[in-house]
Amino acid sequence: MTKEVLILPGDGIGPEITAEAVKVLEALKESDGLDISMTEDLVGGAAYDVHGVPLADATMAKAKSADAVLLGAVGGYKWESLDISVRPEKGLLRLRSEMALFANLRPAYLFKQLADASTLKPEVVAGLDILIVRELTGGIYFGQPRGVRTLENGERQGFNTYVYSESEIKRIAHVAFQAAMKRNKKLTSVDKANVLEVTELWREVIDEVAKEYPEVAVNHMYVDNAAMQLVLNPKQFDVMVTGNMFGDILSDEASMLTGSIGMLASASLDANNKGMYEPSHGSAPDIAGQNIANPLATILSAAMMLRYSLGREDLAVKIENAVSAVLDQGLRTGDIWSEGMTKVSTSQMGDAVVAVL
Ligand code: NAD
Ligand code: IPM
Ligand code: MN
Repeated sequence: MTKEVLILPGDGIGPEITAEAVKVLEALKESDGLDISMTEDLVGGAAYDVHGVPLADATMAKAKSADAVLLGAVGGYKWESLDISVRPEKGLLRLRSEMALFANLRPAYLFKQLADASTLKPEVVAGLDILIVRELTGGIYFGQPRGVRTLENGERQGFNTYVYSESEIKRIAHVAFQAAMKRNKKLTSVDKANVLEVTELWREVIDEVAKEYPEVAVNHMYVDNAAMQLVLNPKQFDVMVTGNMFGDILSDEASMLTGSIGMLASASLDANNKGMYEPSHGSAPDIAGQNIANPLATILSAAMMLRYSLGREDLAVKIENAVSAVLDQGLRTGDIWSEGMTKVSTSQMGDAVVAVL
């Protein structure tokens, strides 16, 4: 049966990079009988400009009924002064929350051809393969109460609430342990249990769930140390599991171990592997509209979509191999370019992947 895929290009470089992923999916429809139907809609600032909200209810409904969603990125200078309730980012957060996409998988995988592209020494990153499992629908991103209030002395005070319930920690722990079982059976849980009660509970619950996975070696690390260890000796990590905000920050850091943030794909899954797929980076307004952004994180996110939500592991592997072949050809967008390589545009990179397919 034909699977429905909702494409949400979004803002900034979003439309440019999404177009390349769509190109790849179209090619697979032709060559491998990929049975999907793609429809496009608005999210973020692009949706605000038309509807006055960063995600229309009709789009939300389409996302829920689709088999998978592929999103570019949201946000930009133009919308930065809007009230926070209608900022582009709220559209993305609503999708994650209402689709119950609590498990965000961000694979920091170094294609061997890019060992020179990282700002770290090649020997530090060569062979790197980390999976960051980020809790995505809880924590300080969604905790109540939140806001800005005026105190009795007339001073303003901003506040957010960092909260995790036991069930939220348990379900993300299971995702992380199950991922570790399929990989090198090592799990690092990242917290700030020396200061924050919420992550003290996080640590306890991880240890409880660990009893169900005796084969997995578990360790706990404070987030400040984890940030340091990621650049000191990143290959010590296999799977890392952490909360929403720490995962946001650590995954951007880890992306540079793979050469560029333009290489870091992601899958956001619910309890039934229904999901939304998007690069881990943002809308890069500084380079938008120039056809120079790296589309590979988005193309690799489309591969994750084929793997997790569309039942086409074969085609996911085919895309990943095609990306590797294009890197073998020496083709690089500016963010991963190094001496001796051929600099290509966003669309040339997409074309090159399609040519290999
Ligand atoms: P960003 O990730 O957009 O950009 C950070 C830097 O990385 C910039 O210099 C940018 O040019 C570069 N970069 C990012 N993606 C790239 C790519 N594919 N190829 C080459 N270079 C790339 O982060 P930011 O500047 O902090 O945020 C910009 C906007 O994006 C903000 O509105 C932010 O809220 C939003 N944002 C959205 C998402 C998302 O939609 N998932 C994620 C992060 C940030
Ligand atoms: C990401 C982004 C988002 C986040 C923003 C745009 C809401 O930074 O996907 O990493 O913080 O989760
Ligand atoms: Mn982020």
